[in-house]
Formats: sequence, structure tokens, C-alpha cells
Amino acid sequence: MDHYYDGNRYYDGNKANWNDRAPIHAESKTYGLDAYVSDPDRLSGVVAFDQPTLGDLNGQRAVHLQCHIGTDTLSLARLGATVTGLDQSDTSLAVARKLFANTSTPGEFVLANVYDAATKLSGPFDLVYTGVGALNWLPNVDRWAAVVAQLLAPGGRLYLREGHPMLWAIDDDRDPADGLIVKHPYFETDEPMVFDDAETYTDGEARLANTRTYEWNHGIGEVITAVLDHGLELTSFTEHRELEWKGLPQMLDAGDGRFKMPPEQADLLPLMYTLTARKPS
Ligand SMILES: C[S@@+](CC[C@H](N)C(=O)[O-])C[C@H]1O[C@@H](n2cnc3c(N)ncnc32)[C@H](O)[C@@H]1O
Repeated sequence: MDHYYDGNRYYDGNKANWNDRAPIHAESKTYGLDAYVSDPDRLSGVVAFDQPTLGDLNGQRAVHLQCHIGTDTLSLARLGATVTGLDQSDTSLAVARKLFANTSTPGEFVLANVYDAATKLSGPFDLVYTGVGALNWLPNVDRWAAVVAQLLAPGGRLYLREGHPMLWAIDDDRDPADGLIVKHPYFETDEPMVFDDAETYTDGEARLANTRTYEWNHGIGEVITAVLDHGLELTSFTEHRELEWKGLPQMLDAGDGRFKMPPEQADLLPLMYTLTARKPS
């Protein structure tokens, strides 16, 4: 998939879909933007989960790729980083900029395709942070890893936490009594999976106008190989039994806004992974 830029119907379709979602997400309880304003110590559930691995970010230049409405970006800033967020969606960045203004947080936001990040951003960065529903919008993980490697300073780190490709291969539209059925490709494919859905994943009744999305899976071996092929050293890889969203109907509340499989399926399926890597000094 060589032409995933403005003018490509997959890229444009996804961008229109995310532009529809951002104002809905900004009003949602799921993202709960007001709480970041009223509580200057508040971290997103995502970054709170990552904090033990991320460590102290004081003095670090961090870029958040596919930052959406900036809640995780703001949380990285609250851990001490100097942050830049990048996203393709102008409505998402409008919400993110307002959130930063309302919380008097310094930060920069850049409207760009992630595949152009190395030329659009003034790096290098000590930390590239991304994930939780990011890689599935990208057709080619090798080219993504090339961008990450270009963005990082020598000694800089990649932190990626993502939905597990095995989870994304499972049919999420089946009666749980049918068991876990593999429906979608586990491996990266040239052509995307196509979905049509007027709903988004937050609370509220609002519906999307641009309903069609195009997504790609990337197998674990493909992700790790891409990272290694672009000169990064793998520093950790962890698979998780929890997920940031209710990915399958049988999932149960795991607390802290996350979801888990019911006890009888808890050991069957990895739900997320965290990958950290380092650019050699
Ligand atoms: C699920 S959200 C990001 C997840 C983030 N953890 C969150 O929930 O706030 C996915 C984001 O990726 C962005 N995105 C998708 N494809 C992109 C691309 N090619 N370049 C830049 N941003 C992209 C979308 O606009 C959207 O804001």
C-alpha cells in the first residue's frame, strides 16, 4: 500500500471518520475532559497504566504519534515531558489544543500523516509514544517503523502499547457461546479490512456521518521485525490480559476503565501488548 496519503480513498475515508468522532469524544464521559481541568494531577487511564514503564519524563522531548484529542499527550506532559502531538485529524487537534490551553499546559500539535512525521516535526525526540488503537489505521508497519527510527535521537526510546493482532483477528460480532472464531487476517495485508459503523466507542447517542473505515492488522513478528530492521534494539515485550476497550461482547470490567476476558477464557487470548525499543547511542 504505497499511496496512503491525501487523495487515497482509504486515507481520506479514515480521516473523515476521525474528524467526525473528535467532537463527540470531546463531549463524552469516556474521555472526561473536564476532569483534566479541575484536577491538575489527573492522568489518562492509558498513561497511568504506562507510567511504571515510562518512568520519569522530566527534561525529555516526547512525540505522541496519532495523539487524537490529546488526553494521553497531556498526561505525558504531566509526567514532565516537553510534548508534541501529531494527528491527521484537524478536529481532534482543535480539541487537544483547547485542552492544553484550558490546563495551561505547554505543548505543540502538528496536523500531518504519521508517514510524513519525520519531515513535518522538528525532532529528534527522546521518546516516541504511540498506540492504543493507532497501528490498525496504518497500512504498512515497516514504513511506520522507519519513521519512528528517524524521529528518535540516539539513545531515544519507542514506547508502543497496542491492541493485540490476535484479538483483532477474532470475530467480535458473534455470540460468545460460539467460542473464539478467527475471522480477520492476523498478518498485514495489502488490502484493508473494511468496516461500516455509525457508532463510535464512547458513550452518548451521537452518530457519525462518515461511517466507512479501512484498517490493517500487523502480526507480532511483523511489528518486531520492522522495529529491528530500522536499527532499534528491543528492550521489552509484554502481552497483556487486559484491554482499554470492550473488544468482545463477553469481556468483563477489569477496573480502572479496562476490560478482561471471563475467567474460563482468561488464558486463551492476549488482548494487548507493550513493546519498548531503543535507538542505539
Ligand atoms: C484511537 S485514536 C488514538 C488513540 C489514543 N490512544 C486515544 O484514544 O486518544 C486514533 C487516532 O489516529 C489518527 N490517525 C489515523 N491514521 C493516521 C495517520 N495516517 N496519520 C496521523 N494520524 C492518524 C486518527 O485521526 C485518530 O485521532
